[in-house]
Amino acid sequence: MKRSNGHWFLAGSLAAAALIVAGWRLYSHYPRKGAPGRTTERPVRPPEGVIPDSRSGTNIITLPTKRIPAENVLATMRQIREHDAKWQEGKVWSLVFHAGDKVTELLKEAYTTFFSENGLNPMAFPSLKKFEAEVVTMTASLLGGDDETAGNMTSGGTESILMAVKTARDWARARNPANIAPEMILPTTAHPAFEKAAHYFSVKPVHIPVRSDFRADVAAARDAITPNTILLVGSAPSYPHGIIDPIAELAQIAQENDILFHVDACVGGFMLPFVRKLGYPVPDFDFHVPGVTSISVDLHKYAYAAKGASVILYKDRALRRHQFFVYSDWPGGIYPSPTMAGTRPGGAIAAAWAIMNHLGEEGYLEIADAVMKTATKLKDGINAIEGVQVLGEPMMSILAIGSDRLNVYEGGHRRPHPLPGAGGGPVRHHGQRRAARRREYGAEAVGAATRSIGHPTAL
Ligand SMILES: Cc1ncc(COP(=O)(O)O)c(C=O)c1O
Repeated sequence: MKRSNGHWFLAGSLAAAALIVAGWRLYSHYPRKGAPGRTTERPVRPPEGVIPDSRSGTNIITLPTKRIPAENVLATMRQIREHDAKWQEGKVWSLVFHAGDKVTELLKEAYTTFFSENGLNPMAFPSLKKFEAEVVTMTASLLGGDDETAGNMTSGGTESILMAVKTARDWARARNPANIAPEMILPTTAHPAFEKAAHYFSVKPVHIPVRSDFRADVAAARDAITPNTILLVGSAPSYPHGIIDPIAELAQIAQENDILFHVDACVGGFMLPFVRKLGYPVPDFDFHVPGVTSISVDLHKYAYAAKGASVILYKDRALRRHQFFVYSDWPGGIYPSPTMAGTRPGGAIAAAWAIMNHLGEEGYLEIADAVMKTATKLKDGINAIEGVQVLGEPMMSILAIGSDRLNVYEGGHRRPHPLPGAGGGPVRHHGQRRAARRREYGAEAVGAATRSIGHPTAL
């Protein structure tokens, strides 16, 4: 657990550990006898922590020997789903971004209309090519892009970040092949996707601290530059605290040292422009800032698109070229691929296009207004609880809660159904809402956690 400012208890490490444990359980399989009515050729024991099938008492662990009618399959799935977090009842912070049932219907319709199409080959599906190009352009125009700005849709924030780091590595390689040990500077609050990228692409992560206001330490960034540094990273905002790094200052350091600067606006990119338009203070964080060379922005977060939609943007096409992969020596023909994925689900691309056109600026402003009003109420409520505070000054709808005298994790752990989640500690939403409204529940109900508030219908 990380502490700063005396006894602030922060959520990140605990949440990450919960996720890793949960994920490991889901993916771990151990040999065991097969279930009745199923092939026994490769019997496997159900992974620990996975809900047993109510009829057989086991999980579906081998392919059924016979067909199961579709309605039975669906009924089983609905029943299994009963164990899931009730996001529709406001029991989940983050993970689900819901803009209302009508919008969800549109997303489903758009998604299923392009359910079978494959974004791998834009020549076969010019519709998807058009959708992707327009989604990228609309996103770029929201974030200070111009005619030079280029980008692609990806499957999510992680893939966008992977692409930004891979692009930086290959850009640097082309300029200076002698640099065989490239480094990138990461504030400790940067999303773990950068660590993943470091691992995948052999770029050394160099960590710098954040200051007492949870913003990246600019002086430390300057000191961390070496002849091997190729990339500097800032978040707008960071997931752990919802705080925007000093983007302009970091970008200036990048410019002075002739390196790239990536802004991770995965969670803020489709919120901050509208928050600013509504009159809340939001510093420049996008291509308006000289020195910003790439931005990641997720559509499946505050653009309310279907899961599997993010955008990676570059300041120009020349930089983006380093992202692409082409293999021309394959018996199957020339294989060009813009991003990590091969096959790309047409549904996710189409649904993103649909919702952006449907909501437009008007719709996004309306939702952002409701979210910000709710966030402000929540912040004020939390700060009114004795001994508990919102950490730093979050500028949008993500916040972290801490206490200098209460073990805020403890209350969260005592909740009946701890919810693992991205950046999420084991805090139940009801508890938080009560805590925000009624002081006396505070100490018991509030756990240290970072939470995205999402659309108010989810509250
Ligand atoms: C700031 C930030 N960057 C990156 C990501 C990773 O996004 P994804 O989970 O879509 O891969 C997240 C996810 O919450 C995030 O908040």
